[in-house]
Amino acid sequence: MGVKDFCSKYYVDRMGTASLKWDALDLRFGDPDLISMWVADMEFKVPEAVVEALHNRVDHGIFGYSFVPDSYYEAVIDWEYSHHGYKLEKEWMRISPGVVAALYWAVNMYTKEDDSVIILTPVYYPFHNCVKESHRNLVTCDLNYDKGIYTIDFEAFERKIVENQVKMYIMCSPHNPAGRVWTEEELEKMLEICARHKVLVVSDEIHQDLVFGEKKHIPAATIANGKYADNMITAFAASKTFNLATCLTSTIVIKNEELRKTWDEFTRVFNNVEVNIFGITAVEAALRGGNEWYQSLKKVIYHNYQMVVEEMKEFPEVYIAPLEGTYLLFMDLRNYVDIEQIKEFTQNQCRLAVDYGEWFGENWKGFIRLNLGTTPDIVMSAIDSIKTNLRKVNG
Ligand SMILES: Cc1ncc(COP(=O)(O)O)c(C=O)c1O
Repeated sequence: MGVKDFCSKYYVDRMGTASLKWDALDLRFGDPDLISMWVADMEFKVPEAVVEALHNRVDHGIFGYSFVPDSYYEAVIDWEYSHHGYKLEKEWMRISPGVVAALYWAVNMYTKEDDSVIILTPVYYPFHNCVKESHRNLVTCDLNYDKGIYTIDFEAFERKIVENQVKMYIMCSPHNPAGRVWTEEELEKMLEICARHKVLVVSDEIHQDLVFGEKKHIPAATIANGKYADNMITAFAASKTFNLATCLTSTIVIKNEELRKTWDEFTRVFNNVEVNIFGITAVEAALRGGNEWYQSLKKVIYHNYQMVVEEMKEFPEVYIAPLEGTYLLFMDLRNYVDIEQIKEFTQNQCRLAVDYGEWFGENWKGFIRLNLGTTPDIVMSAIDSIKTNLRKVNG
């Protein structure tokens, strides 16, 4: 389906639906009347298969205790294999109510207080919070940055691991907000360094399906024929791909038996609940019946990205991270806007709600992250506003 048809069929106005993105603007930004381009969910209704499966479940009318049916595991296994060549086994899989929850648990079950945990900044802010709020030592390592291009500083990564006796690396692959899809070489290099220094890898692959052009997401566990799979846990979900965040159902893969035992003991104590059958139903239906919707969605996101790049050519020193993966666009406004004025510019002048660079790391003030998981019209109104106000600022 083309971009226009997809948007007219699936776009939904979310105002008045307890949407964090639209109805919590006042709460979060102190202003209810902004164009919302922040938190990572979308304005698109889920595939018909999901709505139908949920309807059927509701019509049944019984919501007693459930377990995860084999058909759910099979749907996840099939998706991972057909889309990413990742051969999973059911016994390695666990379910969590979100990837962020799993990150918090992993930090708490696999490290001790004051242990060091490393992240590559700028990165999704819960990566920072899960370490700091768990009273671990957060070690940040900035990506190399050059005019919108982000690469890994391997020398600094290894040095910081050694200096701080780092115990865990929380990896974002694909990377939010830099939009990078790590190459096989980059992944192998990171995993090799971690293995050599006995650093456990937590690989957040929630954006695995949203990759563009020639780029290919490579699950960390498959690198070097699975050589590093015993030194990691992987987290992914259908929630970004199919706009199911509030269904609270994510997959955690733990191949190593010892790590799995620790996971099971920890979650028995701290998450002793049954599954949410609506989440299970929605995810299974999306993976089985949502492929066409998903392929069309990718076209919309990439169209939005290309449109932004084209529109922003008027300001050649606004650097935009090439969108290899995710639907989140990181934009460097520092050549045009004083970094101390970035919020005044973005929120008060442009009337936008965005994620600010400094949320992702202290050295990234002056950057904003825009959510492209919406209609071209909404993206265009945000970009128009940025351009109009950049012209004013730069007279
Ligand atoms: C890298 C990354 N991990 C996790 C999440 C959220 O995961 P969940 O909603 O499953 O907690 C996001 C959402 O934007 C994300 O970008």
